[in-house]
Amino acid sequence: MSRVIKRIAVFTSGGDAPGMNAAVRAVVRTATYHDLHVYGVYGGYEGMINGDLRRLEPRNVGNIIHRGGTILKTARSQRFREAAGRQQAYESLQAFDIDACVAIGGDGTFTGASVFSKEHDIPFIGVPGTIDNDLFGTDYTIGFDTAINTAVEAVDKIRDTADSHNRLFFVEVMGRHSGYIALHTGIGSGAGCVLIPEHDMNINTLIDVLKKGAKRKKLFSVVIVAEGSPYGGATEIAAAVKEKFDFYDTKVTIIGHLQRGGSPTCLDRVLASRLGYAAVESLLNGTENVMVGIINDEVVRTPFDEAIGKAKPVNQDLVRMSEILAI
Ligand code: F6P
Repeated sequence: MSRVIKRIAVFTSGGDAPGMNAAVRAVVRTATYHDLHVYGVYGGYEGMINGDLRRLEPRNVGNIIHRGGTILKTARSQRFREAAGRQQAYESLQAFDIDACVAIGGDGTFTGASVFSKEHDIPFIGVPGTIDNDLFGTDYTIGFDTAINTAVEAVDKIRDTADSHNRLFFVEVMGRHSGYIALHTGIGSGAGCVLIPEHDMNINTLIDVLKKGAKRKKLFSVVIVAEGSPYGGATEIAAAVKEKFDFYDTKVTIIGHLQRGGSPTCLDRVLASRLGYAAVESLLNGTENVMVGIINDEVVRTPFDEAIGKAKPVNQDLVRMSEILAI
């Protein structure tokens, strides 16, 4: 017999991502529609351990769909990695009679959820919220579209000054171990080269590309570097290139946490709304311990261990295309 769910908790965890608020709103309103009571956990797993849960009703999540960050706050919890921390979190959830949780976050969040759900009988549903777009089981994660739009806007501005001074810019973007942000930013901003962990391009090959560009009268260039690039960040790569090829005056820009903020794009708001709604409906249909995602416009459910354990490769044809379009 499937379990009865009357009270659920929702929380955001790990790095914040634009669109998380839209997901919280969707969870609260879908749950309320189904006569469930919703509690917001403030501060991710840390808040769960501390018992910081507060009732959320539809009006508490009004006027947040357009806001970046997360009204529920977030954290990267060390204590939840320990069994004792998880036990304390379980006791907090029990104190509020919570029957199930909706976790909005990335791989660290779902790793925690997966371990917790094997130890304690409270089911979780995951909603992918991370700018990195590195989760298997969904075409896009909440926040990715906003982050690449922010990065492209920054690179557009850098182009103006790069062009005016005939300079070579190395622009570093986030993404942790994944090259999705870099690849999409590179394609969208018409970069001369993109360095990502999923495609091996060493310094010598990069210099060859830049030399060919210089021969073709490219007076300036922008290289996008994923922070997880195997040859170092933008600063190291710029220094290594400069040592062997000093044709261009070279500059470095690290976009950093700018990429995490700002009002979510409409794509992120729609994605977050769909996933928050799907998370609650999945719980009510008896689904447990999976991440909801969207693939080819259909909602899919992927067990946590697969969502975090399986690699999500970048499309190598996009890598090839970005190189061809940069000649
Ligand atoms: O996972 C999102 C992300 O922004 C990564 O791209 C980045 O590597 C990391 O978080 C930065 O984490 P923090 O904000 O904790 O320094």
